[in-house]
Amino acid sequence: MFLTLPLLLSFGVLSTLAQNLTSSSMTTLSLTLTVETDVPTSTGLSNGLALTPPMGFSSWNQFGDQITEQLFHETIDTMASNGLRDAGFIYINLDDGWQHYKGNRSQNPLEPDPVKFPSGMKALADYAHSKGFKLGIYSGPGDSTCAGYTGSLGHEQEDANMFASWGIDHLKYDSCCSEGIDAPTPEVQAIVLKMSKALLSTNRSIVYHACHCGWANIWEWAASEGANQWRIGQDISDDFNYPGNREKYYFDVLDMLDRGNNITQYSGPGHWNDYDMLIVGLDGNSSQLVGTGASNLEYRTHFSMWCMVASPLLIGSDVRTLSTYDLQTLTNSEVIEVSQDPLGEAAQVVGTQDPGGDLQVYAKAMADGSYAVALLNRGPVTADMSISARRDLTMPWDRYRLRDLWKHKEHGCYDIPYTIEVMPHEAKMLRLWQVDKNATAYTVWNLKLEALRVFEMRKVKPLNAANLPFLN
Ligand SMILES: *[C@@H]1O[C@H](CO)[C@@H](O)[C@H](O)[C@H]1NC(C)=O
Ligand SMILES: *[C@@H]1O[C@H](CO)[C@@H](O)[C@H](O)[C@H]1NC(C)=O
Ligand SMILES: *[C@@H]1O[C@H](CO)[C@@H](O)[C@H](O)[C@H]1NC(C)=O
Ligand SMILES: *[C@@H]1O[C@H](CO)[C@@H](O)[C@H](O)[C@H]1NC(C)=O
Ligand SMILES: *[C@@H]1O[C@H](CO)[C@@H](O)[C@H](O)[C@H]1NC(C)=O
Ligand SMILES: *[C@@H]1O[C@H](CO)[C@@H](O)[C@H](O)[C@H]1NC(C)=O
Repeated sequence: MFLTLPLLLSFGVLSTLAQNLTSSSMTTLSLTLTVETDVPTSTGLSNGLALTPPMGFSSWNQFGDQITEQLFHETIDTMASNGLRDAGFIYINLDDGWQHYKGNRSQNPLEPDPVKFPSGMKALADYAHSKGFKLGIYSGPGDSTCAGYTGSLGHEQEDANMFASWGIDHLKYDSCCSEGIDAPTPEVQAIVLKMSKALLSTNRSIVYHACHCGWANIWEWAASEGANQWRIGQDISDDFNYPGNREKYYFDVLDMLDRGNNITQYSGPGHWNDYDMLIVGLDGNSSQLVGTGASNLEYRTHFSMWCMVASPLLIGSDVRTLSTYDLQTLTNSEVIEVSQDPLGEAAQVVGTQDPGGDLQVYAKAMADGSYAVALLNRGPVTADMSISARRDLTMPWDRYRLRDLWKHKEHGCYDIPYTIEVMPHEAKMLRLWQVDKNATAYTVWNLKLEALRVFEMRKVKPLNAANLPFLN
Protein backbone atom coordinates (compact mmCIF):
# COMPACT_ATOMS: atom_id res chain seq x y z
CA MET A 1 0.00 0.00 0.00
CA PHE A 2 1.33 3.43 -0.90
CA LEU A 3 0.00 6.60 0.67
CA THR A 4 1.04 10.16 0.21
CA LEU A 5 0.76 12.14 3.40
CA PRO A 6 0.48 15.88 3.18
CA LEU A 7 1.72 16.94 6.61
CA LEU A 8 1.19 20.39 8.06
CA LEU A 9 3.54 20.76 10.97
CA SER A 10 4.94 23.42 13.21
CA PHE A 11 8.72 23.68 13.12
CA GLY A 12 9.07 22.32 16.64
CA VAL A 13 7.66 18.87 16.07
CA LEU A 14 8.64 18.40 12.48
CA SER A 15 11.92 16.56 12.88
CA THR A 16 10.92 14.40 15.85
CA LEU A 17 7.60 13.39 14.37
CA ALA A 18 9.21 12.53 11.05
CA GLN A 19 11.70 10.42 12.97
CA ASN A 20 8.99 8.71 14.93
CA LEU A 21 7.01 7.98 11.79
CA THR A 22 9.93 6.50 9.90
CA SER A 23 10.96 4.41 12.86
CA SER A 24 7.52 2.86 13.29
CA SER A 25 7.34 0.28 10.53
CA MET A 26 6.05 2.78 7.97
CA THR A 27 8.71 1.98 5.47
CA THR A 28 6.30 2.04 2.54
CA LEU A 29 5.12 5.60 3.11
CA SER A 30 6.31 8.52 1.07
CA LEU A 31 6.00 11.82 2.89
CA THR A 32 5.12 15.22 1.50
CA LEU A 33 6.09 17.78 4.08
CA THR A 34 4.88 21.35 4.15
CA VAL A 35 5.96 23.62 6.95
CA GLU A 36 3.71 26.21 8.48
CA THR A 37 5.19 28.27 11.25
CA ASP A 38 2.05 29.36 13.03
CA VAL A 39 -0.11 26.25 13.05
CA PRO A 40 0.30 24.42 16.35
CA THR A 41 -1.34 21.19 15.27
CA SER A 42 -0.38 18.96 12.43
CA THR A 43 -2.54 17.12 9.96
CA GLY A 44 -1.14 14.14 8.18
CA LEU A 45 -3.29 11.12 7.47
CA SER A 46 -6.78 12.46 7.05
CA ASN A 47 -10.15 11.00 6.21
CA GLY A 48 -11.63 14.46 5.70
CA LEU A 49 -14.45 13.69 8.13
CA ALA A 50 -15.92 15.28 11.27
CA LEU A 51 -15.41 18.87 10.13
CA THR A 52 -17.65 19.78 13.06
CA PRO A 53 -17.77 17.86 16.37
CA PRO A 54 -19.64 14.55 15.95
CA MET A 55 -23.07 14.48 17.60
CA GLY A 56 -25.08 11.43 18.52
CA PHE A 57 -25.66 8.74 21.13
CA SER A 58 -23.38 6.24 22.80
CA SER A 59 -24.65 3.30 24.80
CA TRP A 60 -22.01 3.01 27.53
CA ASN A 61 -22.90 5.55 30.20
CA GLN A 62 -26.44 4.31 30.70
CA PHE A 63 -26.39 0.70 29.57
CA GLY A 64 -22.85 -0.66 29.87
CA ASP A 65 -22.66 -3.93 27.96
CA GLN A 66 -26.39 -4.61 28.37
CA ILE A 67 -27.18 -3.60 24.80
CA THR A 68 -29.43 -5.21 22.23
CA GLU A 69 -30.71 -4.74 18.73
CA GLN A 70 -34.09 -3.80 20.19
CA LEU A 71 -32.55 -1.07 22.36
CA PHE A 72 -30.86 0.40 19.31
CA HIS A 73 -34.03 0.24 17.21
CA GLU A 74 -35.94 2.02 19.95
CA THR A 75 -33.16 4.58 20.38
CA ILE A 76 -33.18 5.28 16.64
CA ASP A 77 -36.97 5.50 16.49
CA THR A 78 -37.08 7.81 19.50
CA MET A 79 -34.37 10.12 18.24
CA ALA A 80 -36.02 10.27 14.82
CA SER A 81 -39.25 11.50 16.37
CA ASN A 82 -38.32 13.58 19.44
CA GLY A 83 -36.20 16.18 17.68
CA LEU A 84 -32.74 14.83 18.53
CA ARG A 85 -31.94 13.64 15.00
CA ASP A 86 -33.11 16.88 13.49
CA ALA A 87 -31.02 18.80 16.01
CA GLY A 88 -27.96 17.01 14.61
CA PHE A 89 -27.53 13.92 16.81
CA ILE A 90 -27.00 11.39 14.03
CA TYR A 91 -24.24 9.02 15.18
CA ILE A 92 -25.73 6.01 16.95
CA ASN A 93 -22.73 4.41 18.58
CA LEU A 94 -22.54 0.94 20.06
CA ASP A 95 -20.00 0.89 22.84
CA ASP A 96 -18.46 -2.24 24.38
CA GLY A 97 -20.57 -5.37 24.71
CA TRP A 98 -21.88 -6.03 21.18
CA GLN A 99 -19.35 -8.81 20.67
CA HIS A 100 -20.17 -12.52 20.92
CA TYR A 101 -17.17 -13.68 22.93
CA LYS A 102 -15.32 -12.64 26.00
CA GLY A 103 -11.64 -13.48 26.37
CA ASN A 104 -8.64 -13.24 24.13
CA ARG A 105 -8.93 -12.69 20.43
CA SER A 106 -6.40 -15.45 19.90
CA GLN A 107 -9.05 -17.88 21.15
CA ASN A 108 -12.23 -16.34 19.72
CA PRO A 109 -13.34 -14.59 16.56
CA LEU A 110 -14.84 -11.09 16.59
CA GLU A 111 -18.51 -11.26 15.68
CA PRO A 112 -21.79 -9.80 16.95
CA ASP A 113 -23.50 -11.53 19.86
CA PRO A 114 -26.24 -13.58 18.11
CA VAL A 115 -28.60 -13.27 21.07
CA LYS A 116 -28.24 -9.51 21.55
CA PHE A 117 -28.05 -8.74 17.81
CA PRO A 118 -29.88 -11.59 16.01
CA SER A 119 -30.14 -9.70 12.71
CA GLY A 120 -26.46 -8.81 12.65
CA MET A 121 -24.67 -5.51 12.30
CA LYS A 122 -25.28 -4.90 8.61
CA ALA A 123 -29.02 -5.02 9.22
CA LEU A 124 -28.67 -2.57 12.10
CA ALA A 125 -26.55 -0.21 9.99
CA ASP A 126 -29.13 -0.44 7.20
CA TYR A 127 -31.86 0.40 9.68
CA ALA A 128 -29.93 3.38 11.05
CA HIS A 129 -29.21 4.66 7.54
CA SER A 130 -32.83 4.25 6.48
CA LYS A 131 -33.82 6.63 9.29
CA GLY A 132 -31.18 9.23 8.53
CA PHE A 133 -28.60 8.13 11.11
CA LYS A 134 -25.09 6.74 11.02
CA LEU A 135 -23.91 3.72 12.98
CA GLY A 136 -20.82 3.59 15.17
CA ILE A 137 -19.08 0.56 16.64
CA TYR A 138 -16.46 -0.17 19.27
CA SER A 139 -13.28 -2.17 19.54
CA GLY A 140 -9.85 -1.94 21.08
CA PRO A 141 -6.22 -2.56 20.23
CA GLY A 142 -5.68 -5.28 22.83
CA ASP A 143 -6.37 -9.00 23.03
CA SER A 144 -9.58 -8.05 24.80
CA THR A 145 -11.56 -4.84 25.40
CA CYS A 146 -12.27 -2.91 28.59
CA ALA A 147 -15.29 -5.09 29.39
CA GLY A 148 -13.35 -8.24 28.52
CA TYR A 149 -14.68 -8.91 25.01
CA THR A 150 -12.47 -9.95 22.11
CA GLY A 151 -10.30 -7.11 20.81
CA SER A 152 -8.68 -6.35 17.50
CA LEU A 153 -5.04 -7.11 18.30
CA GLY A 154 -3.35 -8.59 15.26
CA HIS A 155 -6.57 -8.36 13.24
CA GLU A 156 -6.76 -4.62 12.62
CA GLN A 157 -7.15 -4.71 8.85
CA GLU A 158 -9.53 -7.66 8.93
CA ASP A 159 -11.74 -5.87 11.46
CA ALA A 160 -11.67 -2.56 9.61
CA ASN A 161 -12.73 -4.38 6.47
CA MET A 162 -15.51 -6.12 8.34
CA PHE A 163 -16.80 -2.85 9.85
CA ALA A 164 -16.74 -1.25 6.39
CA SER A 165 -18.62 -4.16 4.87
CA TRP A 166 -21.34 -3.73 7.50
CA GLY A 167 -21.70 -0.04 6.68
CA ILE A 168 -20.17 1.29 9.90
CA ASP A 169 -19.60 5.07 10.02
CA HIS A 170 -17.73 5.63 13.31
CA LEU A 171 -15.24 3.60 15.32
CA LYS A 172 -14.36 4.13 18.96
CA TYR A 173 -11.04 2.36 19.31
CA ASP A 174 -10.46 2.17 23.03
CA SER A 175 -7.07 1.27 24.43
CA CYS A 176 -8.79 0.91 27.80
CA CYS A 177 -5.85 2.77 29.33
CA SER A 178 -3.75 -0.28 28.41
CA GLU A 179 0.02 -0.03 28.69
CA GLY A 180 -0.64 2.36 31.57
CA ILE A 181 -0.31 6.08 32.03
CA ASP A 182 3.44 5.90 31.46
CA ALA A 183 3.30 3.95 28.22
CA PRO A 184 5.94 5.29 25.85
CA THR A 185 4.33 7.69 23.42
CA PRO A 186 5.75 5.94 20.33
CA GLU A 187 4.03 2.70 21.38
CA VAL A 188 0.66 4.42 21.74
CA GLN A 189 1.24 6.25 18.47
CA ALA A 190 1.95 2.99 16.66
CA ILE A 191 -1.30 1.49 18.00
CA VAL A 192 -3.41 4.47 16.95
CA LEU A 193 -1.77 4.66 13.55
CA LYS A 194 -2.30 0.99 12.75
CA MET A 195 -6.08 1.22 12.93
CA SER A 196 -6.08 4.61 11.23
CA LYS A 197 -4.34 3.15 8.20
CA ALA A 198 -6.59 0.10 8.27
CA LEU A 199 -9.72 2.26 8.23
CA LEU A 200 -8.40 4.50 5.47
CA SER A 201 -7.58 1.56 3.27
CA THR A 202 -11.21 0.39 3.36
CA ASN A 203 -12.16 3.60 1.51
CA ARG A 204 -15.31 3.88 3.60
CA SER A 205 -15.91 7.14 5.46
CA ILE A 206 -15.45 6.06 9.06
CA VAL A 207 -14.96 8.67 11.77
CA TYR A 208 -12.08 7.53 13.97
CA HIS A 209 -12.10 8.02 17.73
CA ALA A 210 -8.74 7.07 19.22
CA CYS A 211 -9.41 6.68 22.93
CA HIS A 212 -6.47 6.52 25.33
CA CYS A 213 -7.70 7.98 28.62
CA GLY A 214 -6.25 11.40 27.81
CA TRP A 215 -2.72 10.11 28.35
CA ALA A 216 0.48 10.30 26.27
CA ASN A 217 -0.39 13.90 25.32
CA ILE A 218 -2.50 12.32 22.63
CA TRP A 219 -3.85 15.71 21.50
CA GLU A 220 -0.36 16.66 20.31
CA TRP A 221 -0.10 13.94 17.70
CA ALA A 222 -3.36 12.00 17.14
CA ALA A 223 -4.66 14.39 14.47
CA SER A 224 -1.55 13.81 12.38
CA GLU A 225 -2.30 10.11 12.54
CA GLY A 226 -5.81 10.53 11.20
CA ALA A 227 -7.83 10.47 14.44
CA ASN A 228 -10.95 12.65 14.44
CA GLN A 229 -11.35 12.73 18.20
CA TRP A 230 -9.52 11.64 21.33
CA ARG A 231 -10.44 11.75 24.97
CA ILE A 232 -8.61 14.40 26.96
CA GLY A 233 -9.09 12.66 30.29
CA GLN A 234 -10.16 9.56 32.12
CA ASP A 235 -13.88 8.79 32.42
CA ILE A 236 -16.38 11.47 33.39
CA SER A 237 -18.46 10.87 36.49
CA ASP A 238 -22.12 11.81 36.84
CA ASP A 239 -21.24 14.90 38.88
CA PHE A 240 -21.02 18.60 38.21
CA ASN A 241 -18.47 19.33 40.90
CA TYR A 242 -17.37 16.51 43.18
CA PRO A 243 -14.56 17.56 45.53
CA GLY A 244 -11.35 15.99 44.23
CA ASN A 245 -11.47 13.03 41.87
CA ARG A 246 -13.82 10.18 42.73
CA GLU A 247 -11.68 7.12 43.36
CA LYS A 248 -8.69 9.21 42.27
CA TYR A 249 -9.75 8.53 38.70
CA TYR A 250 -13.01 10.11 37.55
CA PHE A 251 -13.32 13.70 36.39
CA ASP A 252 -16.47 15.72 37.01
CA VAL A 253 -17.71 18.39 34.58
CA LEU A 254 -15.54 21.18 36.00
CA ASP A 255 -12.43 18.96 36.19
CA MET A 256 -12.86 18.08 32.54
CA LEU A 257 -13.21 21.75 31.55
CA ASP A 258 -10.06 22.65 33.47
CA ARG A 259 -8.17 19.81 31.88
CA GLY A 260 -9.14 20.99 28.42
CA ASN A 261 -8.45 24.67 28.87
CA ASN A 262 -4.72 24.48 28.10
CA ILE A 263 -5.02 22.32 25.02
CA THR A 264 -7.70 24.00 22.96
CA GLN A 265 -5.20 24.80 20.23
CA TYR A 266 -5.06 21.12 19.27
CA SER A 267 -8.76 21.03 18.44
CA GLY A 268 -10.23 22.06 15.11
CA PRO A 269 -12.20 20.90 12.08
CA GLY A 270 -11.64 17.16 11.63
CA HIS A 271 -9.80 16.67 14.94
CA TRP A 272 -11.41 17.30 18.29
CA ASN A 273 -10.58 17.22 21.97
CA ASP A 274 -13.21 14.88 23.41
CA TYR A 275 -14.38 15.83 26.91
CA ASP A 276 -16.21 12.47 27.18
CA MET A 277 -19.80 11.45 26.61
CA LEU A 278 -22.60 13.63 27.93
CA ILE A 279 -24.08 12.92 31.35
CA VAL A 280 -27.25 14.97 30.74
CA GLY A 281 -30.22 12.95 31.94
CA LEU A 282 -28.36 10.21 33.81
CA ASP A 283 -29.72 11.53 37.12
CA GLY A 284 -27.44 9.26 39.11
CA ASN A 285 -29.06 6.17 37.56
CA SER A 286 -26.17 5.10 35.35
CA SER A 287 -25.29 1.46 35.67
CA GLN A 288 -21.69 2.30 34.81
CA LEU A 289 -20.67 5.73 36.02
CA VAL A 290 -20.02 6.72 39.58
CA GLY A 291 -21.71 9.93 40.64
CA THR A 292 -24.95 11.05 42.17
CA GLY A 293 -26.28 13.04 39.24
CA ALA A 294 -26.64 16.76 38.73
CA SER A 295 -29.49 19.27 38.67
CA ASN A 296 -31.33 20.22 35.49
CA LEU A 297 -29.45 23.50 35.42
CA GLU A 298 -26.07 21.82 35.99
CA TYR A 299 -26.72 19.42 33.13
CA ARG A 300 -27.65 22.40 30.96
CA THR A 301 -24.42 24.16 31.94
CA HIS A 302 -22.46 20.98 31.14
CA PHE A 303 -24.05 20.89 27.69
CA SER A 304 -23.41 24.61 27.13
CA MET A 305 -19.76 24.22 27.98
CA TRP A 306 -19.28 21.09 25.83
CA CYS A 307 -20.67 23.17 22.95
CA MET A 308 -18.33 26.06 23.79
CA VAL A 309 -15.22 23.86 23.84
CA ALA A 310 -16.28 22.03 20.66
CA SER A 311 -16.28 18.61 22.25
CA PRO A 312 -18.03 15.76 20.43
CA LEU A 313 -21.59 15.55 21.80
CA LEU A 314 -22.60 11.96 22.46
CA ILE A 315 -25.70 11.57 24.58
CA GLY A 316 -25.06 8.97 27.26
CA SER A 317 -28.49 8.63 28.82
CA ASP A 318 -31.60 6.67 27.83
CA VAL A 319 -33.19 8.85 25.16
CA ARG A 320 -36.51 7.03 25.62
CA THR A 321 -36.97 8.47 29.10
CA LEU A 322 -35.43 11.94 28.82
CA SER A 323 -37.29 14.62 30.71
CA THR A 324 -38.77 17.54 28.80
CA TYR A 325 -36.20 19.82 30.41
CA ASP A 326 -33.26 17.66 29.34
CA LEU A 327 -34.69 17.28 25.85
CA GLN A 328 -34.93 21.06 25.61
CA THR A 329 -31.34 21.28 26.84
CA LEU A 330 -30.12 18.93 24.12
CA THR A 331 -32.06 20.45 21.24
CA ASN A 332 -31.47 24.19 21.65
CA SER A 333 -30.55 25.17 18.11
CA GLU A 334 -28.64 28.35 18.95
CA VAL A 335 -26.47 26.59 21.50
CA ILE A 336 -25.81 23.71 19.08
CA GLU A 337 -24.84 26.30 16.47
CA VAL A 338 -21.97 27.25 18.76
CA SER A 339 -20.81 23.63 18.78
CA GLN A 340 -21.20 23.14 15.06
CA ASP A 341 -19.72 26.42 13.90
CA PRO A 342 -17.55 25.76 10.83
CA LEU A 343 -14.59 27.71 12.20
CA GLY A 344 -14.26 24.93 14.79
CA GLU A 345 -12.75 27.05 17.55
CA ALA A 346 -12.68 25.70 21.09
CA ALA A 347 -13.51 28.27 23.74
CA GLN A 348 -10.93 29.25 26.31
CA VAL A 349 -11.15 31.09 29.60
CA VAL A 350 -10.58 34.74 28.72
CA GLY A 351 -11.21 36.21 32.14
CA THR A 352 -12.18 35.58 35.74
CA GLN A 353 -14.27 38.04 37.71
CA ASP A 354 -13.62 37.15 41.32
CA PRO A 355 -10.48 36.46 43.35
CA GLY A 356 -11.39 32.79 43.87
CA GLY A 357 -11.77 32.12 40.15
CA ASP A 358 -15.38 30.93 40.43
CA LEU A 359 -16.67 33.42 37.87
CA GLN A 360 -15.18 32.51 34.51
CA VAL A 361 -15.69 34.02 31.08
CA TYR A 362 -15.28 31.61 28.19
CA ALA A 363 -15.24 32.90 24.61
CA LYS A 364 -14.80 31.62 21.10
CA ALA A 365 -14.76 33.26 17.71
CA MET A 366 -17.47 32.22 15.27
CA ALA A 367 -17.21 31.94 11.51
CA ASP A 368 -19.46 34.95 10.88
CA GLY A 369 -17.18 37.26 12.88
CA SER A 370 -19.31 37.16 16.01
CA TYR A 371 -18.26 35.71 19.38
CA ALA A 372 -19.94 33.08 21.51
CA VAL A 373 -19.52 33.72 25.22
CA ALA A 374 -20.32 31.68 28.31
CA LEU A 375 -20.46 33.40 31.67
CA LEU A 376 -19.87 30.45 34.00
CA ASN A 377 -20.57 30.69 37.70
CA ARG A 378 -18.81 27.73 39.35
CA GLY A 379 -19.45 29.05 42.83
CA PRO A 380 -22.25 28.59 45.37
CA VAL A 381 -23.87 32.04 45.20
CA THR A 382 -25.61 34.08 42.54
CA ALA A 383 -23.27 36.69 41.14
CA ASP A 384 -23.21 39.61 38.74
CA MET A 385 -21.04 38.84 35.73
CA SER A 386 -20.22 41.03 32.79
CA ILE A 387 -18.94 40.86 29.25
CA SER A 388 -17.05 43.52 27.40
CA ALA A 389 -15.99 43.26 23.78
CA ARG A 390 -12.81 45.23 24.35
CA ARG A 391 -11.80 43.74 27.68
CA ASP A 392 -12.76 40.07 27.18
CA LEU A 393 -12.66 39.58 23.43
CA THR A 394 -9.99 42.21 22.71
CA MET A 395 -12.18 43.34 19.84
CA PRO A 396 -12.11 47.10 19.24
CA TRP A 397 -15.85 47.25 18.72
CA ASP A 398 -17.53 50.57 19.49
CA ARG A 399 -20.90 48.89 19.66
CA TYR A 400 -22.02 45.30 19.88
CA ARG A 401 -25.36 43.55 19.67
CA LEU A 402 -25.98 40.88 22.26
CA ARG A 403 -28.25 37.83 22.21
CA ASP A 404 -29.15 35.26 24.88
CA LEU A 405 -28.85 31.86 23.19
CA TRP A 406 -30.84 29.80 25.68
CA LYS A 407 -33.73 32.24 25.59
CA HIS A 408 -33.48 33.09 21.87
CA LYS A 409 -33.71 36.70 22.92
CA GLU A 410 -32.07 39.91 21.76
CA HIS A 411 -30.68 42.02 24.55
CA GLY A 412 -29.92 45.09 22.50
CA CYS A 413 -26.79 47.02 21.63
CA TYR A 414 -24.10 48.17 24.04
CA ASP A 415 -20.88 50.11 24.08
CA ILE A 416 -20.22 49.45 27.76
CA PRO A 417 -19.86 46.10 29.55
CA TYR A 418 -23.09 44.13 29.71
CA THR A 419 -23.88 42.87 33.20
CA ILE A 420 -26.18 40.02 34.14
CA GLU A 421 -26.92 37.89 37.19
CA VAL A 422 -25.72 34.30 36.91
CA MET A 423 -27.03 31.62 39.23
CA PRO A 424 -24.75 29.13 41.01
CA HIS A 425 -23.58 26.50 38.49
CA GLU A 426 -25.27 28.33 35.64
CA ALA A 427 -23.64 29.36 32.37
CA LYS A 428 -25.23 32.23 30.48
CA MET A 429 -24.75 31.63 26.79
CA LEU A 430 -24.42 34.86 24.83
CA ARG A 431 -23.45 35.84 21.33
CA LEU A 432 -22.01 39.22 20.37
CA TRP A 433 -21.93 40.83 16.96
CA GLN A 434 -20.23 44.06 16.05
CA VAL A 435 -22.82 46.68 15.17
CA ASP A 436 -22.35 48.44 11.85
CA LYS A 437 -22.23 52.12 12.70
CA ASN A 438 -24.05 53.00 9.50
CA ALA A 439 -27.04 50.78 10.09
CA THR A 440 -30.37 52.37 10.95
CA ALA A 441 -30.68 50.02 13.87
CA TYR A 442 -27.54 51.54 15.25
CA THR A 443 -29.06 55.00 15.38
CA VAL A 444 -32.19 53.71 17.04
CA TRP A 445 -30.18 51.77 19.58
CA ASN A 446 -27.87 54.68 20.14
CA LEU A 447 -30.84 56.64 21.42
CA LYS A 448 -31.94 53.75 23.58
CA LEU A 449 -28.43 53.42 24.92
CA GLU A 450 -28.49 56.95 26.21
CA ALA A 451 -31.66 56.11 28.09
CA LEU A 452 -30.09 52.91 29.38
CA ARG A 453 -27.04 54.79 30.53
CA VAL A 454 -29.18 57.17 32.54
CA PHE A 455 -31.09 54.23 33.94
CA GLU A 456 -27.88 52.48 34.91
CA MET A 457 -26.56 55.51 36.71
CA ARG A 458 -29.72 55.58 38.82
CA LYS A 459 -29.86 51.86 39.62
CA VAL A 460 -26.91 49.54 39.08
CA LYS A 461 -28.85 46.71 37.48
CA PRO A 462 -28.34 44.50 34.46
CA LEU A 463 -28.91 46.36 31.24
CA ASN A 464 -31.85 44.67 29.70
CA ALA A 465 -33.84 46.73 27.25
CA ALA A 466 -36.81 44.40 27.37
CA ASN A 467 -37.24 45.15 31.07
CA LEU A 468 -37.48 48.87 30.48
CA PRO A 469 -41.13 49.77 29.90
CA PHE A 470 -40.39 53.24 28.60
CA LEU A 471 -38.46 51.80 25.68
CA ASN A 472 -41.22 49.60 24.35
C1 LIG B 1 8.96 10.91 19.34
O1 LIG B 1 9.39 9.90 20.20
C2 LIG B 1 10.20 10.35 21.27
C3 LIG B 1 10.65 9.12 22.04
O2 LIG B 1 11.24 8.22 21.16
C4 LIG B 1 9.40 11.31 22.14
O3 LIG B 1 10.23 11.82 23.18
C5 LIG B 1 8.93 12.45 21.30
O4 LIG B 1 8.06 13.28 22.07
C6 LIG B 1 8.15 11.94 20.09
N1 LIG B 1 7.82 13.04 19.24
C7 LIG B 1 6.60 13.35 18.91
C8 LIG B 1 6.42 14.53 18.06
O5 LIG B 1 5.63 12.69 19.26
C1 LIG C 1 -4.71 -13.36 26.93
O1 LIG C 1 -3.57 -12.75 26.36
C2 LIG C 1 -2.72 -12.17 27.31
C3 LIG C 1 -1.65 -11.41 26.58
O2 LIG C 1 -1.34 -12.00 25.38
C4 LIG C 1 -2.17 -13.25 28.21
O3 LIG C 1 -1.33 -12.68 29.18
C5 LIG C 1 -3.32 -13.95 28.88
O4 LIG C 1 -2.86 -15.06 29.64
C6 LIG C 1 -4.32 -14.46 27.86
N1 LIG C 1 -5.49 -14.95 28.51
C7 LIG C 1 -6.02 -16.12 28.26
C8 LIG C 1 -7.26 -16.49 29.00
O5 LIG C 1 -5.53 -16.90 27.45
C1 LIG D 1 -9.59 1.99 -2.28
O1 LIG D 1 -9.37 2.93 -3.32
C2 LIG D 1 -8.13 2.74 -3.97
C3 LIG D 1 -7.93 3.90 -4.94
O2 LIG D 1 -9.08 4.09 -5.70
C4 LIG D 1 -8.14 1.37 -4.67
O3 LIG D 1 -6.90 1.16 -5.29
C5 LIG D 1 -8.37 0.30 -3.62
O4 LIG D 1 -8.50 -0.97 -4.23
C6 LIG D 1 -9.63 0.58 -2.83
N1 LIG D 1 -9.72 -0.37 -1.74
C7 LIG D 1 -10.84 -1.00 -1.43
C8 LIG D 1 -10.77 -1.92 -0.26
O5 LIG D 1 -11.88 -0.86 -2.09
C1 LIG E 1 -2.55 25.36 32.37
O1 LIG E 1 -1.47 26.23 32.11
C2 LIG E 1 -1.20 27.11 33.17
C3 LIG E 1 -0.12 28.06 32.71
O2 LIG E 1 0.85 27.40 32.00
C4 LIG E 1 -0.78 26.28 34.39
O3 LIG E 1 -0.52 27.13 35.47
C5 LIG E 1 -1.89 25.32 34.74
O4 LIG E 1 -1.49 24.48 35.78
C6 LIG E 1 -2.26 24.48 33.56
N1 LIG E 1 -3.42 23.71 33.90
C7 LIG E 1 -3.54 22.43 33.59
C8 LIG E 1 -4.81 21.80 34.00
O5 LIG E 1 -2.68 21.81 33.02
C1 LIG F 1 -33.47 7.93 38.45
O1 LIG F 1 -33.20 8.28 39.80
C2 LIG F 1 -34.19 9.09 40.39
C3 LIG F 1 -33.72 9.44 41.77
O2 LIG F 1 -32.34 9.64 41.79
C4 LIG F 1 -35.50 8.37 40.38
O3 LIG F 1 -36.51 9.21 40.92
C5 LIG F 1 -35.87 7.98 38.97
O4 LIG F 1 -37.04 7.19 38.95
C6 LIG F 1 -34.76 7.18 38.32
N1 LIG F 1 -35.10 6.94 36.94
C7 LIG F 1 -34.91 5.80 36.34
C8 LIG F 1 -35.30 5.73 34.92
O5 LIG F 1 -34.48 4.83 36.91
C1 LIG G 1 -20.16 54.13 6.89
O1 LIG G 1 -20.36 55.39 6.34
C2 LIG G 1 -19.15 56.12 6.12
C3 LIG G 1 -19.52 57.55 5.67
O2 LIG G 1 -20.62 57.51 4.82
C4 LIG G 1 -18.31 55.39 5.06
O3 LIG G 1 -17.11 56.07 4.82
C5 LIG G 1 -18.00 54.00 5.61
O4 LIG G 1 -17.30 53.24 4.66
C6 LIG G 1 -19.27 53.26 5.99
N1 LIG G 1 -18.93 52.03 6.68
C7 LIG G 1 -19.44 50.86 6.36
C8 LIG G 1 -18.96 49.70 7.18
O5 LIG G 1 -20.24 50.71 5.47
